[in-house]
Amino acid sequence: MKFFVDTADTAEIRDLAETGLLDGVTTNPSLIHKAGRDFLEVVKEICAIVPGPVSAEVVALDHDGMMREAEIVRKIADNIAVKVPLTIDGLKTCRKLTADGTMVNVTLCFTANQALLAAKAGATFISPFVGRHDDVGFSGMDLIADIRTIYDNYGFDTQILVASVRNPIHVVEAAKIGADVMTAPPSVIRQLFKHPLTDNGIKAFLDDWAKTGQAIG
Ligand code: G3P
Repeated sequence: MKFFVDTADTAEIRDLAETGLLDGVTTNPSLIHKAGRDFLEVVKEICAIVPGPVSAEVVALDHDGMMREAEIVRKIADNIAVKVPLTIDGLKTCRKLTADGTMVNVTLCFTANQALLAAKAGATFISPFVGRHDDVGFSGMDLIADIRTIYDNYGFDTQILVASVRNPIHVVEAAKIGADVMTAPPSVIRQLFKHPLTDNGIKAFLDDWAKTGQAIG
């Protein structure tokens, strides 16, 4: 499963990219607002840090407006994935952009039927929001499993990008289902490395090593 980070904070992206485990980045208008920076400038900087796909969202709601914004956004770098909402106009835009060879991430997906439509529109990525789905009393992971089944039934290439990830359990469940990608905030990605028994074990080993009086090299 590919790991994307869901942030527009370039310091965090740089730091996580150094692990060699970061495959891409997702942003949205709320994350751009949080970063407090110019949209095109910050996305350009992110594209230079991470060679993998970087999602940048258009904000127009009509097809022509989306296309106009997408023209600007896709010129930023070769690794841009234009993010469009799951609406009729969004999917029209998706069809047109992917036909031209541009990566498209269809966002705000909450049903398996929406995911089916996005795949039929040629989406590179479909972003089901598991956390927000859980928030309103539905199982985000059941949605991922349904999409996996449908995509496998028909051999769709669209990658399932599990979004709105809130905790490490979302990540492991997505991996068990066979999602292609997950995107999570930096804090959740950092949590994945951690276990108290790992920390305790390191401490115990180092304490015993110190007692040997030895050094390596
Ligand atoms: O980028 C889309 C998604 O990951 C947003 O997550 O936590 O705002 O529901 P959240």
